[in-house]
Amino acid sequence: MKTLILYGTRYGSTQRYVHILAEKIAGEVTVENLGKNKNPDIKPYDVIIIGGPIMAGKMHSAVSRFVNVNLQKLLSKKTALFICCLHQGEKARQQLVDAFSPKLVEEAAGYQYFGGEVDFRKLNFFLKGLMRKVMKTEKNVSHISTENIEQLAQAVNHVSSEQDGKK
Ligand SMILES: Cc1cc2nc3c(=O)[nH]c(=O)nc-3n(C[C@H](O)[C@H](O)[C@H](O)COP(=O)(O)O)c2cc1C
Repeated sequence: MKTLILYGTRYGSTQRYVHILAEKIAGEVTVENLGKNKNPDIKPYDVIIIGGPIMAGKMHSAVSRFVNVNLQKLLSKKTALFICCLHQGEKARQQLVDAFSPKLVEEAAGYQYFGGEVDFRKLNFFLKGLMRKVMKTEKNVSHISTENIEQLAQAVNHVSSEQDGKK
């Protein structure tokens, strides 16, 4: 079973969370940063996991671009979706649904939010202001949801074992 994880990141937390996820996925796992490789070939893979951070309510541009260009190809595969974000619960779920095509969300084997991190020292003046407005905080925040990462890995591993059973 071959799994490809595609992600975008601006400040690096998504990359870290993706590597935690990758360790939990059974079989062969390949990880690609869409900010560096904009057009990876998804054909050789059985499962595609795709996601990135939400900023001001929007998905990372490299991820949304890849999803828009490759929507039909993605819909022909088993997929799982995730976002990194600071909101939790229903607000996080809504951000995820808004970040991807509704059909992709509907067809996904699983979708989760992984939590997020903000280090104010890394933000420029404009982004600090935006962050204060959107998240109503001026403090560094770090909360990873290892439980949600685990749940997404389990959903993917379940799909893998089903497909292996059919072979
Ligand atoms: C300028 C800015 C805007 C953000 N806007 C949102 C938002 O609208 N909703 C949310 O849940 N999290 C928001 N976040 C939190 C990010 O999604 C979180 O910091 C994420 O972990 C960043 O991922 P990265 O380190 O991979 O770039 C924002 C963060 C920044 C810096």
